[in-house]
Amino acid sequence: MSSSTKVIRSSFLDFVEDPFYQSESDSIRYVLDGLLVVEDGKIQALGSYESLKERYSDAEIISYPDKLITPGLIDLHVHYPQTEMIGAYGEQLLQWLDKYTFPVEAKFKDAEYARTIAVFFLDELLRNGTTTAVVLTTIFPESVEALFTEAQSRKMRIIAGQMMMTRNAPDFLLNDASTAYGQIREQIQQWHGLDRLLYAITPRFAITSTPEELSLAGKLKAEYPNVYVHTHLAENVSEVEFTAELFPESKDYLNVYEQFGLVSDRTIFAHCIQLDDSAFTRLSESGAAIAFCPTSNLFLGSGLFKLDKSKSTTTPVKVGLATDVGAGTSLSQLRTMCDAYKVMQLQNKSLSVFQAFYLATLGAAKALSLEDKIGSFEVEKEADFVVWDLQATPIMKLRNPDGKAQNLAELAEKAFATMILGDDRAVAATYVAGELLANHSSY
Ligand code: GUN
Ligand code: ZN
Repeated sequence: MSSSTKVIRSSFLDFVEDPFYQSESDSIRYVLDGLLVVEDGKIQALGSYESLKERYSDAEIISYPDKLITPGLIDLHVHYPQTEMIGAYGEQLLQWLDKYTFPVEAKFKDAEYARTIAVFFLDELLRNGTTTAVVLTTIFPESVEALFTEAQSRKMRIIAGQMMMTRNAPDFLLNDASTAYGQIREQIQQWHGLDRLLYAITPRFAITSTPEELSLAGKLKAEYPNVYVHTHLAENVSEVEFTAELFPESKDYLNVYEQFGLVSDRTIFAHCIQLDDSAFTRLSESGAAIAFCPTSNLFLGSGLFKLDKSKSTTTPVKVGLATDVGAGTSLSQLRTMCDAYKVMQLQNKSLSVFQAFYLATLGAAKALSLEDKIGSFEVEKEADFVVWDLQATPIMKLRNPDGKAQNLAELAEKAFATMILGDDRAVAATYVAGELLANHSSY
């Protein structure tokens, strides 16, 4: 045991398999009274208190007796520059972008402004229990620099990159494709793999890129195959129609990205609502991942994501949960799970609380091919975790009156009520790489 060892006593929940495909008892690990041991920011052990207490009898134990601890949550798609325009009234996607989004993103040319919002955004993620996020920026290098600098100082796992836009937006939000190419190359060299940071080549969506720009994005991907590609796909009917007009050679929307070498097992596509079976099959074959953004899809009236198609047994597509703020209506993944549940109810399907948490932990880690580093309490993974208070508000206390869940059935009941009623108030504390970075009692 070194001086950096931390020993935490509480109840613990994580996943060892996918609860969409395996039974709850085979996919879930629930340790009712456990010890989590963290050393140098990594997990050294998780087991029952009884089995580990002798080994750590000299350690000072941090105890959360009435709480539940899960791995840190992962948000697969979120726009940090849109934090301040969340909840903008009355429009669907393309009009919403013109009216609200583009003017706000213009402000991120100012490095100081970008820094202020990056600080707010990352602290807000942590207050909500989110420790890893795939983040969109703007066309301005200042916005990328601010986000990565602040994420690095918090030791967070942030995947991000400069937004690529060359057409179909106001002049103040357009960049020259070859200038963007040079800027992104420099940023990849500066940030990709630095501490816990990773880079994503981020064309906004097909509509705002010329074929020339998408081919430069493909060139970057070929030059740096380990970086991610992150963009939007088939969110809204008018968007799909406009894309078909702009790219008449492509057989469908996904094919635009395929033609430019942008679809691989390191690609994340947000939304994927208006996709046919052929596209789901090709996504499955490529290993690309979908970010399911239920609060956004309901708020903009985009449609209902067919989660069951991505979870098919024949052509499965990797999928995780995402807030998509500012079209999404909350940075809380609990609020997002609640809307994911409703999106599935509208399709006559039920999403269990364990499936919902899987989509925001190990499932999302797999979507990012980062399951060797984050997403569960496996030994040697990075020690990002959230301490949940299942009685955080009067109504949660009324609904969850007695203490700990004694078994999986009780846990399902209590955790489901939390996912439906909870928000940032249910996050008692958030740890990143073993360090306490958000603590409800200090707000
Ligand atoms: N498609 C292109 N840009 C955006 C955006 O900023 N938000 C959402 N929800 N969809 C988009
Ligand atoms: Zn988005």
